[in-house]
Amino acid sequence: MNVAVIGMGYVGTTMSVALGLDGHQVFGIEKDKKKIQSLEQGSLPIYEDGLEEKLRELLLSKQISFSQYISAINSCSVVMIAVGTPASEDGRADLTYVKKVASQIGKHMKSEKLIVIKSTVPVGTGDVVKQIIDQELRRRGVDIPFEIISNPEFLREGRALQDARNPDRIVIGCTSSSAKKTMEALYQSHIDKLYFTTVRNSELIKYASNAFLATKISFANELARLSEKVGANITDVTKGMGMDNRIGTQFLQAGIGYGGSCFPKDTDALLQIGKDAGIDFTLLQAVKNVNDTQVKWFLNKVETTIEGLANKKIAVLGLTFKPHTDDIRESPAIRILDFLLHKKARVSAYDPKGIPAMQRIFPDVTYSADPLEAVDQANAVILATEWPDIVKMDWDMALRKVVNPILFDGRNVVESHLLRGWDYYGVGVCVS
Ligand code: UGA
Repeated sequence: MNVAVIGMGYVGTTMSVALGLDGHQVFGIEKDKKKIQSLEQGSLPIYEDGLEEKLRELLLSKQISFSQYISAINSCSVVMIAVGTPASEDGRADLTYVKKVASQIGKHMKSEKLIVIKSTVPVGTGDVVKQIIDQELRRRGVDIPFEIISNPEFLREGRALQDARNPDRIVIGCTSSSAKKTMEALYQSHIDKLYFTTVRNSELIKYASNAFLATKISFANELARLSEKVGANITDVTKGMGMDNRIGTQFLQAGIGYGGSCFPKDTDALLQIGKDAGIDFTLLQAVKNVNDTQVKWFLNKVETTIEGLANKKIAVLGLTFKPHTDDIRESPAIRILDFLLHKKARVSAYDPKGIPAMQRIFPDVTYSADPLEAVDQANAVILATEWPDIVKMDWDMALRKVVNPILFDGRNVVESHLLRGWDYYGVGVCVS
């Protein structure tokens, strides 16, 4: 099947590669010329494990090609919209790019199309896109049949291709039998994972899923604060909770709060969707509040424990919002660096992938190419992202380099047997 994917960001590139690997002929469309040039050379503008290698294979076999022009949709019967929906100032999803693409599709399409919205969009966006395309077709005085359906994505950064190729479910919001048939053909290799529903249900499922996962995390984080007060250990508590299949262990890892380009944005957007519908989503508001205060709570502990931060050297290990990505968007590390610098601490930092992006925001931090170099002469160490090379670093060697052997483990990941001689402060656990 010939598929056009519009928007070569995280979702668009990953979906293009996944569809290409499933044997479809993929046309990636992107307005940024530089991005197109780099993709055509097999180079991704983002770091995503394994994706670049597969992209190169598909380029060699000519299974994938890229274009700057929307008219490339005319070689395809299926058109996927995968452009960004960033947060606008009030938290609502900004649909500017989706609307622009819809109008371009309306201006350029020459034959029948199934238009699939992959971007994360508020409930009712399918109707908005339909209206825009209808309007453009009317303007052109042509009558070309098309259908708008919803097919949100659930892939995680850092394991994007793996998730796209092994989905738990593929949610498809569509009602016509012809659209269902086309989507069954598109996702033939995951046929048992398809869940058909209405467009509006599908649009809401995406936000609800992210908001629910964020809720689990904030629940664990608030419980962590309680655990410290009552002498419990959050890791053991959530482990015991998760053994109940109805609860499950995933996304109950307490830490310094969720970040990234999705959870913060999508919880805000769902709150706004609720507001517009007259629903005061109090639970979700609390989830957001816990997340907003979690880093601050953690940093207060750091500041009180080491009795002030001014002129102390603090090593921050991990800068990306989670491991296996170079993405620092909404990373808790941003707030950590900001707080430490504001308190006049001397800050050194290490991250295997996130340094170039962080350097642009905080040029005054000393960045190291190695975690052991970053901790040299430190008065305290903060672990902010659980990169394997940080978790498994030589903590004995680090002990010999620091001034004070104090570790604040923001992700509760370093095993105690590696930390002989260290004072350890986790999240919701305090072991010395
Ligand atoms: C998230 C969802 O997991 C995907 O299903 C969804 O497709 C994606 O958003 C999206 O909407 O595009 P992602 O933002 O890549 O994926 O990252 P996650 O692995 O979900 O982690 C999000 C944040 O939660 C990270 O900061 C992570 O450190 C934090 N987290 C995660 C915790 O603090 N505790 C946990 O137990 C799990």
